[in-house]
Amino acid sequence: MMRTTNHEPRTTELILALDVDSFSKAKYFVDLLYPKVKIFKVGLQLFIARGKKIIRYIREKGGKVFLDLKFYDIPNTVANASKEVVRMGGIEMFTLHTQGGLEMMRRVKEAAREEALRLGIKAPLIIGVTLLTSEAQSSKITPLVISLTRAARTAGLDGVVASVKETRCLRQVFGGDLIIVTPGIRFAGGEKGDQKRIATPEEARKAGSNYIVIGRPILEAQGPLITARKIIRKIS
Ligand code: C5P
Repeated sequence: MMRTTNHEPRTTELILALDVDSFSKAKYFVDLLYPKVKIFKVGLQLFIARGKKIIRYIREKGGKVFLDLKFYDIPNTVANASKEVVRMGGIEMFTLHTQGGLEMMRRVKEAAREEALRLGIKAPLIIGVTLLTSEAQSSKITPLVISLTRAARTAGLDGVVASVKETRCLRQVFGGDLIIVTPGIRFAGGEKGDQKRIATPEEARKAGSNYIVIGRPILEAQGPLITARKIIRKIS
C-alpha cells in the first residue's frame, strides 16, 4: 500500500460528471452506478435541460449532488444565485470562478452561510474553480493557481478545482484541509478530448486529490460500471 503523508487525503473519491442532455440518460447512469459512485456532478448542460428533476432523483436515491454551474458575475448577482442554491436543498457542493475576485467569493460565502442558518440546514461546500483543465500547461499556470487558491481561502471557500499538475504543490502550500477537486482525468493512452492538463486516476490520488471528476471516459465506455469499478480500485 502507498505510504500516506500528512498532506494526502486518506481516500480519493470518484465524482461522475453527468454530462448528458436528458433526464432519462442521467437516470440511466445514476441507476447503473449508484451506490458504487456516490457523488454526481450536474453541470450546465443537464441543469439547463432537466436540472431540478435530476437533482431530486439523485437525492431520493441517496446520492450526493455536486452542482457545477461555475458562477462568474458581479458579487450581488452571484451571492443571490448562491442563496437559491442553498434553498434548492440537498446540494453537497457548488462551484464559482475564483477569477470573479475576492469580494465576489466573500459575498457568496456569507450569503450561503446566512441562508443555510435561516433555513436550519447544512450549508453546501463552496468550491472555487481556478484555471480550467482545458487550458494548456505553461510555466504561468501553477503560480496563478496558487494565487487564486490563496484568494479562495481568504474568502473562506472550502476548496478549489484544479488540475492534478498543480495538486501536489497546492497540498504543500495549503495543507490537508483544502478540498482539491481534479477534472481532466484520463487513462494512459485514452482519448483526451478538449482536456489539456490531464492525469491518470492513480496520479490524482498520489498527488493528493480529494475528488476526481470523470465524465466521458465513463459515459462513453463500453461498460460504464466496469470502468467506474476499475477507477475506484485505483484510487482507493
Ligand atoms: O468528460 P470529462 O471527463 O472531460 O469531464 C470533465 C468534467 O469536469 C466536465 O463536466 C467539465 O465541465 C468539468 N470541469 C473541468 N475543468 C474544470 C472544472 C470542471 O473539466 N476546471
